[in-house]
Amino acid sequence: MAKIVIENLSGKEVNIHPQSRSILAALQNERVDWMHACEGKGRCTTCKLIVVKGFEQISEKTAAEIRYEQEGKLSGNERLACQAKALGDLAVRVPDEGKLPHLKYDD
Ligand code: FES
Repeated sequence: MAKIVIENLSGKEVNIHPQSRSILAALQNERVDWMHACEGKGRCTTCKLIVVKGFEQISEKTAAEIRYEQEGKLSGNERLACQAKALGDLAVRVPDEGKLPHLKYDD
């Protein structure tokens, strides 16, 4: 089974179930708290993640991601967890703006 490693969350490993419709859904399936202010509707960027490894293992960018990229709110190595689907192993990081106050991050 493919997995997501969250590098700055103590290297937490999250299994990706093939039926997960998005990275956010995969994280929620494994009870990992992840910011998602618009509840995964692609209307904010709070679920943003930084892709460290496995960029080619992610689904094509959605219209929402392309729009945010054009507006300068998403850079080349960033994806929206609620829009992107993991197709294989990934390593990601939580950006500073997505860090939750009750979790301890490594940086
Ligand atoms: S939760 Fe708002 S864009 Fe992903």
